Amino acid sequence: NIQGIIFDLDGVLTDTAEYHYQAWQRLADEEGIPFNRQANEALRGISRRASLMLIIGDRRYSEVQIQEMMERKNDYYVELIQRITPKDLLPGAVSLLDDLRQAGLKIALGSASKNARVVVEKLGIIDKLDAIADGYSVQKPKPAPDLFLFAAQQLGLPATQCVVFEDAAAGIDAALAAGMWAVGMGPPERVGTAHIVLPSLAGVTWENLQGKFRDIAL
Ligand code: BG6
Ligand code: MG
Repeated sequence: NIQGIIFDLDGVLTDTAEYHYQAWQRLADEEGIPFNRQANEALRGISRRASLMLIIGDRRYSEVQIQEMMERKNDYYVELIQRITPKDLLPGAVSLLDDLRQAGLKIALGSASKNARVVVEKLGIIDKLDAIADGYSVQKPKPAPDLFLFAAQQLGLPATQCVVFEDAAAGIDAALAAGMWAVGMGPPERVGTAHIVLPSLAGVTWENLQGKFRDIAL
């Protein structure tokens, strides 16, 4: 009996992953640390600090330097997201949001990003969301279930009645740890542990999702 849908933002509703990548690349170049698009794949969905830790590897930096680098990367990212418009919504996102609301479902955002609110405002979908869980909502980042549990609580729903749409392995792990239904967006190599795997939101409706959930004997 699904009553609520929780959407990750980066890589599900919009492709800010590219802007995160560009901001990290600029920082890595400035620091003389080897980094590239392929290395960036490992950063998908993980927190700002955990991302930086993966980039610096075993190079030694003080906490002060780490803080400064996180801020610098964020400054670059904030600069890049200023250009986001509703055109940056991924195909199918708006029609699915509208269809879900029409069907009486509650909708929340469940993003690890501290910039999530700005991004959804620029995308023009803030009015389509009943709750926002973002990088300020909880302490423990995905794969901990905390962020999604917070989102469900904001919607006033038990975890078992919520579905999470996620593009990152850490996000699928978080959804499963929360006891929620998980829809993985992208290749099975990445999100194959989700209950349902979809290539994109294009053409997805509440009716065909319900059908898929029925098939897995909900
Ligand atoms: C996630 C992104 O949504 O948010 C990650 O997928 C990012 O790439 C994380 O590191 C934290 O975002 P921010 O904007 O608070 O640095
Ligand atoms: Mg994501």
